[in-house]
Amino acid sequence: MFDFDRIIQRRGTHSSKWDNMAKLSGITAPDGIPMWVADMDFQAPPGVTEALREEVERATHGYYADTGTWSKSCADWVGKRHGLAIDPAWVTPTPGIVSGIGLILQALSEPGDEVVIFPPVYHAFRRVIPANDRRILDVELVLQDGRHVMDFDRLKASLTPRSKIVLLCSPHNPGGTVWTPGELKALAQVCIERNLILVSDEIHCDLLFDGKRHTPTLVAAPEIADRLITCVAATKTFNLAGAHVGACVTSNADMKKKLDARCIATGVASYNLFGMVATEAGWRTGEAWLNALLPYLQKNRDLLDQRIEKGIPGARSMRLESTYLGWVDFRATGLTSAEVAERVAKGARIFASPGQQFGPGGDGWLRFNFATPRPILEEALGRLDEAFKDLQ
Ligand SMILES: Cc1ncc(COP(=O)(O)O)c(C=O)c1O
Repeated sequence: MFDFDRIIQRRGTHSSKWDNMAKLSGITAPDGIPMWVADMDFQAPPGVTEALREEVERATHGYYADTGTWSKSCADWVGKRHGLAIDPAWVTPTPGIVSGIGLILQALSEPGDEVVIFPPVYHAFRRVIPANDRRILDVELVLQDGRHVMDFDRLKASLTPRSKIVLLCSPHNPGGTVWTPGELKALAQVCIERNLILVSDEIHCDLLFDGKRHTPTLVAAPEIADRLITCVAATKTFNLAGAHVGACVTSNADMKKKLDARCIATGVASYNLFGMVATEAGWRTGEAWLNALLPYLQKNRDLLDQRIEKGIPGARSMRLESTYLGWVDFRATGLTSAEVAERVAKGARIFASPGQQFGPGGDGWLRFNFATPRPILEEALGRLDEAFKDLQ
């Protein structure tokens, strides 16, 4: 019903993943394969295309009216998929999650305040915090039996009077950890005890493997509601990243008021018509597509894990529970990070995200986006075999 094997030519289409590759990686080979930024090489759900087509054919692209259907479709989706009961009135749309996080920092903290993050973690967190004159407080994740865990003792010991916000990535990028209800409750407990606001970025929550369930932070720890902002989006789930729309959700009316005031102050309280139409259509019509996509992605994950570990002695791929971003540890290959990077970029002509980008704990790792048709993935894996075959 959905053809995820179909190769769509994205070069020359203003695709950052494909058209920024040479500029950002130096890989100029015409057959370079981009496995970096987190979008997919698949067509979005047909319902999204239909909604956009209707818009295009009507061709009156005036200002968007927020009549409440968008927030309701968001609430319906997270309620149905994750048992997260939210009132549409708690939802603030933002031009993407990263901009939402920037607005939250501005609304709820002061310059010089510390924001806790758990590296290795999504690199834009490391950019948006200092860009807003706030300070990063890194509490590195610990690898336990091949899975990331949070070190709560270290978290408590690291906090200072300037610590204001904890920014959680749930599920975690990179590494795909689906946090357990117990872990989320323990984190919430620290936030309550130490008077911290918790921002739970759940953008990857729909991309789950092996029957895993995502537990929203609000479900795991309802007692945190008053100091919690949950960020969700349709953009990762339905391959609409270019639509640049996210939702910041909180039941705390005072925090919402402050966030909305920042949206008004920065002129983003009026929404991008195309982004709103596309994301609402994703939530309303995309479920069958997503249900077909997940097994396809899971098979890609399995293929990547098996082939990398077989073809590159010493390399270990973290068993992802979520996300389509393979997280591969090259530290036991006997090669330096620079040597690995050279083989991947020059030998295999693949642009993977360098682990250092994700902060402490990332050096020696690479992140591979495998949300691509299988023939492209097979080609990439064949090239990696070739680039490391002398290690066999
Ligand atoms: C954890 C996380 N948050 C946010 C984003 C990006 O969100 P947006 O494009 O809506 O700013 C990404 C993209 O990869 C991500 O991994």
